[in-house]
Amino acid sequence: MNKKHVYTSKKPDDTGYIDYGAVDDGTWKTLFERQTKHIIGRACPEFIAGIEELKFSSERIPQHKEVTAELSRHYGWGVEQVAALIPATEFFTLLSNKKFPAASFIRLPEELDYLMEPDIFHEFFGHCPLLTNKAYSNFMYEFGKIALAAKPKDRVQLFRLFWFTIEFGLIQTTQGLRAYGGGILSSFGETTYALESKIPMRKPFDPVDVLRTPFRIDILQPIYFVIQSYDQLFEIIDMDLMALLQKARELGDHPPMFEPKK
Ligand SMILES: [Fe+2]
Repeated sequence: MNKKHVYTSKKPDDTGYIDYGAVDDGTWKTLFERQTKHIIGRACPEFIAGIEELKFSSERIPQHKEVTAELSRHYGWGVEQVAALIPATEFFTLLSNKKFPAASFIRLPEELDYLMEPDIFHEFFGHCPLLTNKAYSNFMYEFGKIALAAKPKDRVQLFRLFWFTIEFGLIQTTQGLRAYGGGILSSFGETTYALESKIPMRKPFDPVDVLRTPFRIDILQPIYFVIQSYDQLFEIIDMDLMALLQKARELGDHPPMFEPKK
């Protein structure tokens, strides 16, 4: 999959308001209406409840300050408008201040199903609903602090814990397997692939195993890790992650389940 288009962020006016225009609002509507139907029976119940809490509408892209106002009523989170991808230190600094970085552009209609950079649909729809959830938002906050304090080379490997939970996590519920990762739930194709395809491997979540598992950002994931309850997210944060990282290094990485990126 190749990047076809370079996106630039939308600039707010003096009051912080961003005028997205009819095309961008239409793209949001198409994505929002399609995905809110698609995730029924596939997203964890807390995610669906979170969409209600945030009062998202299909009619237009929410403003950053509107999302912040709704999130702040729960566990003190807000969204911070950033220009697409940001350096790791800035990213983890924002998380450790309960500010979730969110770009202000939305994908073009011709890139509805895949784009390399995380856009506002991915950030708002994929991640913000569960920032109203205690376990997910606490994990994001505590992980931000741990990653910020870690050495750069440790951060890279620690980020696997973020990737296989916040982005691509699955959870076993009494109703069956459900997705809670924002990378899954903001993608029409990966929502069904992650839960229903016979192709990917699904393994019980084990932090050392996760720390040994490489990933690629630009493919459907070949492996997902399944938590049994949100308590596991609290437990990870209470562990000595540096000791787990050391153990993972002694055991070595698992062989990648994907071709190297060309
Ligand atoms: Fe994300």
